[in-house]
Amino acid sequence: MQPAKRLESIPPYLFGEIARLKAQVIAEGRDIVDLGIGDPDQPTPRVIIDKLCEYANNPETHRYDESNAGVPEYLNAVARWHKRRFDVDLDPESEALLLIGSKEGLAHLAWAMIDPGDISLVPDPAYTVYKVNTLMAGGSVHIMPLLAENRFLPDLSIIPSDVAKKAKLMYLCYPNNPTGAVATPEFFGDVVAFAKEYDIAVCHDCAYSEIAFDGYKAPSFMQTPEAKDVGIEIHSLSKTFNMTGWRIGFAVGNSAIIKTLNRIKSNIDSKQFAAISLAGAYALDNVNIDSTIALIQKRRDILVDGLNSLGWKLEKPKATFYVWTPTPPGYNSVEFTKALLQKAGVLAIPGTGYGTYGEGYVRMSLTVSGDVNGERVAEAVRRIKDNMKISWG
Ligand SMILES: Cc1ncc(COP(=O)(O)O)c(C=O)c1O
Repeated sequence: MQPAKRLESIPPYLFGEIARLKAQVIAEGRDIVDLGIGDPDQPTPRVIIDKLCEYANNPETHRYDESNAGVPEYLNAVARWHKRRFDVDLDPESEALLLIGSKEGLAHLAWAMIDPGDISLVPDPAYTVYKVNTLMAGGSVHIMPLLAENRFLPDLSIIPSDVAKKAKLMYLCYPNNPTGAVATPEFFGDVVAFAKEYDIAVCHDCAYSEIAFDGYKAPSFMQTPEAKDVGIEIHSLSKTFNMTGWRIGFAVGNSAIIKTLNRIKSNIDSKQFAAISLAGAYALDNVNIDSTIALIQKRRDILVDGLNSLGWKLEKPKATFYVWTPTPPGYNSVEFTKALLQKAGVLAIPGTGYGTYGEGYVRMSLTVSGDVNGERVAEAVRRIKDNMKISWG
């Protein structure tokens, strides 16, 4: 058996390695406060589960979804949600596409757009899917560093013009995994101008748009004037409605890019179980997530206030599940992650798992299993205080 050579361009899946390390510590009989993977710990709201059961009981949903881009009820709900949430008008027939989770769409977009020799502009640190799929499709990646001094927005002015001329695709993600940074409408305006100048398709990953605190409302790239001329935005129901296992998301925006993405998808997958699509439509139209957000915000405050009381100097992220913490002097990302796990029994993810520019950071996720009232997060702070001698110099 000889796998395709393209698989050699895949680095080991980060969470697989972390899971192995975690299993080792658990096998030693120790309790871990898991601030690792960003997977909502709360259940999917009961009303959405009830709707799934109702739709699953209708045999009509048991067959192939033979629609063009997803069941119309779902795509209509997507358009209504965008109008309500962002005041953006979308044609559900040509500017919206059902995805089997946003990861699927982000990955297939590279396969739909990138030929060998083409370039994707990819942020670093970032969700690894953008880079890996560009490489597997035979393309190359031009890294856009996300630096603290630029508030983790890429500096478009330092992209060499010969690279920009060859680039076909740019990935962005705000609110950002892993840094927790948010984008401004002005930045999105600069992206549209840049994409127009160099004829680049933009893909804005907006998986965390609804995970926002203190009244902050994350903008949509689609609110930017002329964004629809250059790009699409990819959304997920995973994080918004605690539906990671259900596998449902959507792409919206430029109709030619949507059509291109659907062209490759329709030759690979057969969309989602219609009962899930319909329950997703119900969620988009009806479900309020304030109580989940309040719980995550509470955990954020306990973690950031707690670590700051130990001398850390963290800002509270306005959005996402993530606190992106610089590593203390004397540690690199991996060493600090190991020390946290071994000395304090706290699992974080080394920033380098998200790229070279993640060095000097670890990511702590606020999706902590069993944490009903912030007590596990408080326990993490206590363990760090009691077991680690950290000097911030
Ligand atoms: C930035 C980002 N985009 C997309 C996804 C994928 O989400 P899903 O495929 O569940 O919609 C994730 C998951 O962690 C993510 O962090």
